[in-house]
Amino acid sequence: MTSAKKLYIKTYGCQMNVYDSARMADVLAPLGYSTTESPREADMVILNTCHIREKAAEKVFSELGRLKPLKEATRRRGGRMILAVAGCVAQAEGAEILARAPHVDIVLGPQTYHRLPELVATATRRAGGVLDTEFPVESKFDHLPDASAPQGVSSFLTIQEGCDKFCTFCVVPYTRGAEFSRPAAEVLDEAHRQAAAGAREITLLGQNVNAYHGAAPGGGEWGLGRLIRALADVPGTARIRYATSHPRDVDDELVEAHRDVTRLMPFLHLPVQSGSDRVLAAMNRRHTTADYLGTLERLRRARPEIAFSSDFIVGYPGESERDFEATLALVREVGFAQSFSFKYSARPGTPAATEPDQIPDEVKSARLARLQELLEAQQRTFNRSQVGRTLDVLLERPGRHPGQLVGRSPYLQPVHVLAPARLVGALVPARIIGAEPNSLAGERIECEERISA
Ligand code: SAH
Ligand code: SF4
Ligand code: F3S
Repeated sequence: MTSAKKLYIKTYGCQMNVYDSARMADVLAPLGYSTTESPREADMVILNTCHIREKAAEKVFSELGRLKPLKEATRRRGGRMILAVAGCVAQAEGAEILARAPHVDIVLGPQTYHRLPELVATATRRAGGVLDTEFPVESKFDHLPDASAPQGVSSFLTIQEGCDKFCTFCVVPYTRGAEFSRPAAEVLDEAHRQAAAGAREITLLGQNVNAYHGAAPGGGEWGLGRLIRALADVPGTARIRYATSHPRDVDDELVEAHRDVTRLMPFLHLPVQSGSDRVLAAMNRRHTTADYLGTLERLRRARPEIAFSSDFIVGYPGESERDFEATLALVREVGFAQSFSFKYSARPGTPAATEPDQIPDEVKSARLARLQELLEAQQRTFNRSQVGRTLDVLLERPGRHPGQLVGRSPYLQPVHVLAPARLVGALVPARIIGAEPNSLAGERIECEERISA
């Protein structure tokens, strides 16, 4: 018999961390842990951390400071709160965490969370922190329980981990390790389980997801395009998405999947980072702006209604005003539906961090403001262009107003519609009647659910 214990997980960073947090909860469930929304009543707290920019990493130490008095209060009540730091900061700064925050019991990297039960047992037996930031030879996926708590209408499924690209600014190759693809059969099994648990939309995840090359069920390997074709046959799955892709790895098979698989959504996040070929070369992105535009063109020919989003970094070491103007020019040429943009943040251990020509913060801030103004205007234009169209909306959850549900359009925009609660999980056509900067308003035009897009 296991006793009932409460687990609080706080997740930072990318969608892969969201998936990992769900899997950590699955690993701990057999030990009697169920999740809670409040750290106060938790027997175990896990911070699943992100190291991508300095700000993200700093948050961990301030959160650890806030947790200290909670942990002490639990101890005064005669209980024990186990405090664990997981994810990419743990991987990069494991020893430093234990030194700076001795009240931490466990530090574990993103590749070792299948060992959580052992780590919890060790931490319970002895005082002092336990550190496990190896890159084990065995894959964590082979050691995760099959059973997993349902993630809801829209679920994440990690199919690929790590990255071999080594962009000069990025910590991911160091925190997540070498690129690895899960076998296709294992991915399909998990997709069937997620669909059976109520998932209507599956987002395939990887730090470099379109570099996927997993073992095929009948021998050989499948790329992402082939895998998507197989996933489209999973009963109950109405939508497939994938993130995050690298422009270099958009092969013909993937473009053809966009042409042929209607369940694959016509929306692609394809980060370009910069519109200057000089900066792209310095970043070791291994593609030019012309390559990028050519790839978008191939995708548009395959699926004319496709829309794109991107990530941008401004103020990369040595970025001149002219380089930055080239980024603005590229953005104007493409017309993005949505984007994320960041000031370059020097990360310890990455090649760009020691480049001599670092850009002053005021310059980075000014460029970011100019870029974001343009990107936000494009997003508003894109949202407004949907007004009057009929879009399929996958209803996900109750909205703020009574009788209202919120779903997502094919382009990931939140859409508010009046619909009864029983329609959560349904894919319904809606006429778009209003557009806000970050969401749309829709009107349901049929009562019946549509099974596929
Ligand atoms: N694998 C994806 C993205 C990974 S990180 C890709 O190859 O594009 C998500 C985003 O964070 C990146 O696209 C980049 O725009 C941003 N990013 C990564 N490192 C950064 C750094 N050092 N400073 C600022 N932004 C960074
Ligand atoms: Fe980082 Fe993406 Fe480059 Fe890999 S491809 S190093 S994850 S930015
Ligand atoms: Fe952050 Fe690690 Fe994801 S650094 S963005 S949590 S891969």
